[in-house]
Amino acid sequence: MNLLALTLAVVLPALAAAHSWIVCTDYLENNGWYWDEAKCRGWPRSAARYNLRYGRFGRQDEYAHRLDDHPESNPLCETARNDNTEYTDNTPMAAYYLGQKVVLPHPTNGHVADARCTKKTAKDIENLMFVVDGDEDPCCIDSDKLIQIMDMGVSPYGENIPDELTTTYPKPGFQNAPKFCENLPGNALATYNFTIPMDLAPGRHTFVWKWIRTRTTNPFTSCWEADVFSTKAERDAHYLATGRSTADMWDFYEINNIVDGEIVDPPGNEIITG
Ligand SMILES: *[C@@H]1O[C@H](CO)[C@@H](O)[C@H](O)[C@H]1NC(C)=O
Repeated sequence: MNLLALTLAVVLPALAAAHSWIVCTDYLENNGWYWDEAKCRGWPRSAARYNLRYGRFGRQDEYAHRLDDHPESNPLCETARNDNTEYTDNTPMAAYYLGQKVVLPHPTNGHVADARCTKKTAKDIENLMFVVDGDEDPCCIDSDKLIQIMDMGVSPYGENIPDELTTTYPKPGFQNAPKFCENLPGNALATYNFTIPMDLAPGRHTFVWKWIRTRTTNPFTSCWEADVFSTKAERDAHYLATGRSTADMWDFYEINNIVDGEIVDPPGNEIITG
C-alpha cells in the first residue's frame, strides 16, 4: 500500500461515521424512538433526488449530505434552490405558523455518548437553526444573510459525567436518539425541535441547520424552504388543501407509558377478563 492509500484507509472509516443531515422538516413526533416516513409532512430541498422518503433512514452511500470537507469552497447548501424542481408531490415543502414547534429528525451515524454501548466522550459543540435573509442561497457558512433563530443545545458528554446522564432521554441537542444502542453503528433516529419566531415575516423562507461536531471538523448543514403563515388556521388550510395532517406535533413520552425502557399500555386499555 502506498502512503496515500494507507492514509485513506485509516481516515475514511472515521469520516464515514460522522455525517448527518436533516431528513424531514416537519415531523409529527417529538423525541420518538423510530423513524416513520408517514409522520413526515414536509421535506428538505432535493429530498426526492436523495431518496430520503423511501430509502433506508440515514443511509450514507446514497445520501451523503456533506459540507464538512471544504466549506470555504463548497456552497452552503448541497443543492441549489429551485422551488419548482426540488420539491415533489411525495416530498412537498413544509408549512409552518408563527410560534410553531417544529420537529427535525436526523440520523446519528454513530455519534452519541451512551454508556450502555459507546464511549461517553462522543461530543459535539453546536446545533443551530437559521433563517435566510432574502431569496438567494447564502454563499457560505459565515454569510451575514444567516439569521440565527434557535440554539438547540448540546447533549451531555464526557469521561467524568455519570453514566445515567448519557442514558437518559430526551436529551437536548444532536444526540437525542433513545434507541441509539439498538442501531449501532449507524442510523438511529434522533430528533430536534425548534420554534418559529413570532416576529418572522409570513411568506416563503429558506431555513438552514448547522451542526458543529468539533472545532477542527467543518460544519454540516442542510437547507430547505417552508411557507410561513401567521396563524395555525391558515397553515392548517394550506395542509388540508395539499392532503396533509393538521395535527400539532406530539411528544413520544407523553403519549406512551414507559416502564423499564419498554412501552406498556395505559391501564385503561387492558382487556378485562373473567
Ligand atoms: C425542544 O428543544 C429544546 C432545545 O433542545 C429543549 O430544551 C426542549 O426540551 C425541547 N422540547 C421538547 C418538548 O422536547
